Amino acid sequence: MGSVWHKDAPRVGFEMAKDNISTDVLIVGGGIAGILCAYKLKNAGADCLLAEAAQICGGITQNTTAKITLGHGLLYHKLIKRFGQDKARLYAQAQMDAIREYAGLCQSIDCDFESRDSYVYSINDRKKLEKEIAALGRVGVEAQLSNVHELPMDIAGAVCIKDQAQFHPLKLLYALAKDLPIYEHTKVVQLLPGKAITNRGEIAFKKLIIATHFPILNKHGLYPIKLYQHRSYVLALKGAQKLEGMYVDESEAGLSLRSWGELLLLGGGGHRTGKQGGAWRELEEFSQKHYKGAEIAAKWATQDCMTLDGVPYIGQYARTVPDVFVATGFQKWGMTNAMVAANILRDLVQGKANPYALVFSPSRTVLRPQLAVNAFETALGLLTPTAPRCPHLGCALKYNPAEHSWDCPCHGSRFTQRGELIDNPATDDARWKE
Ligand code: FES
Repeated sequence: MGSVWHKDAPRVGFEMAKDNISTDVLIVGGGIAGILCAYKLKNAGADCLLAEAAQICGGITQNTTAKITLGHGLLYHKLIKRFGQDKARLYAQAQMDAIREYAGLCQSIDCDFESRDSYVYSINDRKKLEKEIAALGRVGVEAQLSNVHELPMDIAGAVCIKDQAQFHPLKLLYALAKDLPIYEHTKVVQLLPGKAITNRGEIAFKKLIIATHFPILNKHGLYPIKLYQHRSYVLALKGAQKLEGMYVDESEAGLSLRSWGELLLLGGGGHRTGKQGGAWRELEEFSQKHYKGAEIAAKWATQDCMTLDGVPYIGQYARTVPDVFVATGFQKWGMTNAMVAANILRDLVQGKANPYALVFSPSRTVLRPQLAVNAFETALGLLTPTAPRCPHLGCALKYNPAEHSWDCPCHGSRFTQRGELIDNPATDDARWKE
């Protein structure tokens, strides 16, 4: 079973590239970030082109639960502590701009856009919520402590931010994409200075944006140690109580909930890719306990790139490659962060300043505790002697029994049982066949 979003959003298709072509800005990757970048650049009058290896919105984008909110867990008190109040405020403002932009865009595109309050709840710690509300106040966001009554389990309370939104992502993205210069089934197999070699010929460019979820250029930017991937699972339940709000647990191991039409989208069961976790079993147990009689209408899984410090990497790919840009590490909040990325990259690519660029700069310090965890996992993966091995950098793959796939704990590449590539950063199939 796949996600619900394809059911009522007819796919928009594009031709593959032919012969050798050139563009000022080449965008690699046709997920939400790539499409919004192309949309913004085209509207700014830039000559651009998007190359997608398979079909647009066919990767992580189709598996979102599509919440448009700045309530990214209990993030803001951490941002103030790590970066100071001014930068935390800029982060919040960038998200607010993104929410406003979605509201404007969705006025003229039928994409099930609904204004909703968002809630970050805690099962047992009201103090944490009070601390976050104070932090939100310091960065200019109004939030209240709420006693929620529509969730089926007991909670200690929730941070409520009003006037956020939910929508149907593919309806919006297909509508935007249909007028954009996009090539599908055009896979970049090698990146050279000013030139991408694809399976359909060469594309010459002046500037390059890599929007491939996990960045595919290993030589620069240290992304294999700056990022890891987190896998999570979703059930679409029919017959469960409809929710007015959008919810996420403050705990990383917790649940997320929102309604879409008659379905309740229940997310959770997460774990670092390549490790064990509750997966759909955990969600099914929750559903059986709290939504008795509800049926599973759809189930799917997704994965997110996680940074070292909770802020995405958006901007120049690395100091060594000044004409290459990146958007990654959206931390499970891909809807607003993709819009933030499109705004920043539209400006940077055109040589303009952007007020939020510094906050998201990929060149910021890597000296964070998560760096040691990533380094440990990579060393462990490389030294584990078992087969099969990951073609990205050679770590031992782990079997994922929930999805019958082979997953890499180092950076999150995934493969079918036959070794066919499912998720990057690997760019090729593994070399075994069942
Ligand atoms: Fe990097 Fe597997 S994803 S070694």
